[in-house]
Parts: sequence; structure tokens; C-alpha cells
Amino acid sequence: MSFLDIAKNRYTTKKYDPSGKIAEETIAQLEEILRLSPSSINSQPWKFTFISDDKTKNELSKVSFHNEQKVKDTSHVIVFSVIENVKDFEKWNLSRLPERSEVYYNRMVKPKGEAKIKSWLSCQVYISLGFFLSTCASMDIDSTPMEGIDTEAYDRILQQEGYKTLFAVAIGYRDKDDVNQPSITPKFRLEKENVIRNI
Ligand SMILES: Cc1cc2nc3c(=O)[nH]c(=O)nc-3n(C[C@H](O)[C@H](O)[C@H](O)COP(=O)(O)O)c2cc1C
Repeated sequence: MSFLDIAKNRYTTKKYDPSGKIAEETIAQLEEILRLSPSSINSQPWKFTFISDDKTKNELSKVSFHNEQKVKDTSHVIVFSVIENVKDFEKWNLSRLPERSEVYYNRMVKPKGEAKIKSWLSCQVYISLGFFLSTCASMDIDSTPMEGIDTEAYDRILQQEGYKTLFAVAIGYRDKDDVNQPSITPKFRLEKENVIRNI
């Protein structure tokens, strides 16, 4: 399938088939693909937590607002987290990178102050989300990106240390009657002339 067809067919799944489990070897591939996500200066300020344990998924579902049923029914939930502390980032991530990366960070990012540094770090994790959603679609795995979750409660349940939940992604296989699939609900996007500019 061409990437254009993948983009047309992927969609945010709203209802999962609870019996649809993703094979362990497929999960191992997804783990490796996430690890290979690109980021500015190769900063990699992330942690990806894969959850298939039913008890943990049930606990998470209770703090997932309108996403409750998806979290319960899906095969796996992946929690995307960002490193919490700028000092830890500088100590653990930056120190492993080539000198030119450190120079870029010290010149272009660090002078902007803590809030902007943290926002820049979070942006890197969002890049991995785009990478991941496309990957899943190319492997015929259905997915739901979810910002609509109680991220602090996720941190507590997962006993996160040094990292903070930004969002999660449910992955699995759709219920055959899921009304959000493009064959039932056509995709809505802004017109090309509103979002593409050619000079
Ligand atoms: C960062 C992000 C967070 C989202 N959070 C949720 C969510 O909490 N629950 C949900 O059902 N959909 C969520 N969505 C799905 C969007 O609503 C969806 O991507 C958008 O409407 C486009 O539809 P499509 O993905 O089916 O093409 C989220 C999407 C993104 C990219």
C-alpha cells in the first residue's frame, strides 16, 4: 500500500474488539521502532511504557475520562512520557550526545529558560507520536492517540520516577462496527488551499 493510501485509511479508533490481541513479536518491533524515533539534536527525552496487563489497564481506564472503554478493551496501551527535570536531561541525555548537539542546546534552547526548555522537550515526544501512528497504520494495527487522560493519575498508577506522562496511545484491532472508520464516517480535513502554500 502506498503511504498516501495508508494516510487515507488510518483513523482514530473509537471501539476495539476486546479479543484482538497484538502478537508479542509485533510488540517487540513497535518497541524498537519507537526507540528509533527522530528528535531534535537526537535528544530522546522520552520513556515509552507498554501496558498489556489487564489489572493495570483497568486501573488506567478509570482515570481516562471518555477514553475509558478504549483503554479497557484494547490490546495494549503505550504511555508516552517526557523527562521531568531539565538538570536530569542535561546530565543523562545531553552528556551522551556529540559536542555540536550540546553547543546547539546551549546556544539555541537553554537561554530561553525552563518553561521553554520543557516545552521543547515535550515537542520531541510528540514527534514520536506521529512516527508511531504512521507505523501502526502501515502494520494494519488500529490506534487511538489520547490526551484526554488524567496524566497525574497515570504517573501515580505507573509509579513513574523522573518522567511525566504526556499522553497515551491505545493500540489493537477495531470492533468491526466502529462508526469512526472512514468507510462509515469519511475523514474531515481542511481544504488543501487552506493548509498548503506554494511559493
Ligand atoms: C495529540 C492527540 C490527542 C488526541 N486525543 C484524543 C483522545 O483523548 N480521545 C480520542 O478519542 N481521540 C483523540 N485524538 C484523535 C483526534 O481527535 C483525531 O486524530 C482527529 O479528529 C483526526 O481524526 P483521525 O485521526 O480519525 O484522522 C487525539 C489526537 C491527537 C493527535
